[in-house]
Amino acid sequence: MNNEPNAKHSIRLPFVRNWISLAGAIVMLGSIFAFVLLLIFDLFTARQSPYSGILTFVVAPGFFLIGLILMVLGRYLYRREAARAAGRELKPRLVIDLTNEKHRRYVGLFVIGGLMFLLVSSIGSYETYHATSSVEFCGKACHAPMEPQYVSYQHSAHARVACTQCHIGSARGNFVKAKLNGVHQLLAVATDHYPRPIKLSGKIDINQQTCEQCHWPDRYVGNIERAYHHYLADESNSTFSVRLLLKVGGGDPTHGPPGGIHWHMNVANKVEYIATDPGRQTIPWVRITRQGGDVTEFRASDFKDDPAKHTLHVMDCTDCHNRPAHQFRSPDDAVDLALYLGTLSTNLPSIKKEVIMALTGATETQEEGLRKVAESLRKAYPNRSEAELNQTVATAQNIYRQNFFPQMKVDWRTHPNNIGHKDWPGCFRCHDGLHKTADGAKKLGASDCNSCHIILAQGSGEEFQKLSVNGHDFNHIDAPYSDFDCNKCHTGALPKE
Ligand code: HEC
Ligand code: HEC
Ligand code: HEC
Ligand code: HEC
Ligand code: HEC
Ligand code: HEC
Repeated sequence: MNNEPNAKHSIRLPFVRNWISLAGAIVMLGSIFAFVLLLIFDLFTARQSPYSGILTFVVAPGFFLIGLILMVLGRYLYRREAARAAGRELKPRLVIDLTNEKHRRYVGLFVIGGLMFLLVSSIGSYETYHATSSVEFCGKACHAPMEPQYVSYQHSAHARVACTQCHIGSARGNFVKAKLNGVHQLLAVATDHYPRPIKLSGKIDINQQTCEQCHWPDRYVGNIERAYHHYLADESNSTFSVRLLLKVGGGDPTHGPPGGIHWHMNVANKVEYIATDPGRQTIPWVRITRQGGDVTEFRASDFKDDPAKHTLHVMDCTDCHNRPAHQFRSPDDAVDLALYLGTLSTNLPSIKKEVIMALTGATETQEEGLRKVAESLRKAYPNRSEAELNQTVATAQNIYRQNFFPQMKVDWRTHPNNIGHKDWPGCFRCHDGLHKTADGAKKLGASDCNSCHIILAQGSGEEFQKLSVNGHDFNHIDAPYSDFDCNKCHTGALPKE
């Protein structure tokens, strides 16, 4: 810095008379330029990218601050050096004399500059809040880890609900928790330290309050009719359909007779349970507290533990609707739907079996999976026309793309759906007829095939046209069946015999 005094003549501003301050000034100017440019881009592009908000309102102001710090630091070092060279002591010196015209100008500049900075940074924080709360940010900014949830979300009934509406919730403190958690997650993504698959940590609970922002628990739903169209894994892809009348009902006596599936709504009753695994798939103990304060406990016969040693969970919407936004369809389900819609042709012999087998081969990446799906199907049907094969392969690959994420180790096997009971335990975690009171005298209610639904029609062809108002007994393809162990054989792929 010995040549500093010479620089005096070439650069007039006292603040940039040294290299560090000069560098700082350049960084500051650059960041202002970038900020303005990005802002213009932001205003003139219709679809915002999750990154642009972060660049504009986090990265650019960040550089501005770094530049400012460098400038001040350089100035300080320069003055210290100059003082040492002159043998003086460096004393902090700040004299503001408002009668001095020059000082007045500086103070004025400082106040205006400070106000501008505050303004920009408050717009910045607001925009940052927006940018980091948008669906694009959640789903795309950390692309790889969130892809499975982002893709499945886009095909759900909640595709128009923002991620943060469910994932931050309404409780006070949740927002801060979520953002802190978000910082933690960003670090995890940057350093590639995140679990595969991702599971909710339980730190930010999604619970009944989350859903009640939009859904009214007192609503009386009554009966809903649903048809399930299946195809067998035989050569002719035979059909087998079930038409159910689901007794959803409601829980509030002023809006309809309380009862049915939504009786669990916690309006008048509280159901608590113990789960012995983190995914809550095994529930050996259940307690119900009725309106009058009447308490009944039910337990599975093999559960001998003291319930006080376990965490109690209060049952709510997400114990049944646990995949309202991220359902990973089982290959069985997805292929049935494609066959029903005609995007897969039942003219191809054993197509149901072949596509399921093609989809479930083990792979490491989605690209590899897609390639294997194509190879496997082309090999299975060597003599079919190219057009027919292309259509089949495209449909199967589409199913794969929407439901299989090997890079995150996510598919239907890792994320059970608790509605129903065919491929996962679901309702039968409690309603399997095996949960009883301690004396064994009473089993948990609604543990028979007609409490939750009646079967209006079943089978195929003419058989499926025979409606019963009181409900048929379940005919499992060709034999009656009324046991509670469907998911022992039905796993979402090809069922075990
Ligand atoms: C309708 C509410 C809702 C919306 C909207 C929603 N989620 Fe979820 N999300 C859930 C529920 C419920 C779970 C599962 C909770 C559980 O397993 O207990 C979940 C789970 C997750 C998980 C953990 C892994 C898993 O699949 O269980 C991630 C990651 C996730 N969501 C990301 C997102 C992203 C990203 C978006 C927006 C693109 C989003 N969510 C939108 C309700 C929602
Ligand atoms: C921000 C509002 C909002 C929140 C929060 C929300 N939902 Fe919804 N939900 C909707 C809307 C809107 C629909 C109807 C979508 C339609 O019909 O197009 C819907 C539909 C549904 C359906 C019917 C789905 C179907 O396939 O017919 C279920 C079940 C459901 N929500 C459950 C939940 C659960 C469980 C939660 C809490 C985890 C939740 N919702 C949170 C707005 C919300
Ligand atoms: C002992 C094993 C076993 C049990 C237990 C079982 N199934 Fe099945 N199920 C099968 C087999 C095997 C098929 C024929 C699959 C095929 O050819 O695609 C089948 C076919 C079906 C189908 C039509 C095809 C399909 O894959 O969706 C439905 C629906 C069905 N079962 C429902 C149930 C229900 C509901 C239960 C429980 C009440 C149940 N099954 C219990 C073995 C079982
Ligand atoms: C005991 C399990 C269970 C609980 C708890 C539960 N539901 Fe449901 N709900 C169901 C079933 C089963 C259906 C029938 C439709 C289906 O299979 O998706 C349903 C249907 C719905 C529907 C669609 C109604 C329609 O008209 O299409 C909505 C919305 C819904 N539930 C919201 C909620 C909300 C919100 C909560 C919590 C306050 C909740 N449910 C609690 C099992 C449950
Ligand atoms: C955590 C355990 C648990 C799970 C899981 C569960 N239930 Fe229940 N359910 C209960 C308890 C406890 C009762 C009250 C039983 C009694 O009164 O003996 C009940 C009662 C019912 C009733 C009878 C309500 C009435 O009218 O009195 C229906 C219907 C029902 N459940 C449907 C379902 C369906 C459908 C599912 C799956 C989507 C499901 N339940 C999942 C615990 C559970
Ligand atoms: C605790 C309530 C409950 C009980 C008890 C119950 N179910 Fe179900 N069942 C459901 C629900 C809820 C669904 C709908 C699942 C869905 O929406 O995907 C369902 C779906 C079904 C389906 C259609 C599945 C498909 O994919 O085709 C069949 C068949 C069925 N049940 C048979 C039975 C039989 C047989 C029994 C007696 C062994 C039984 N259910 C007992 C709640 C119950």
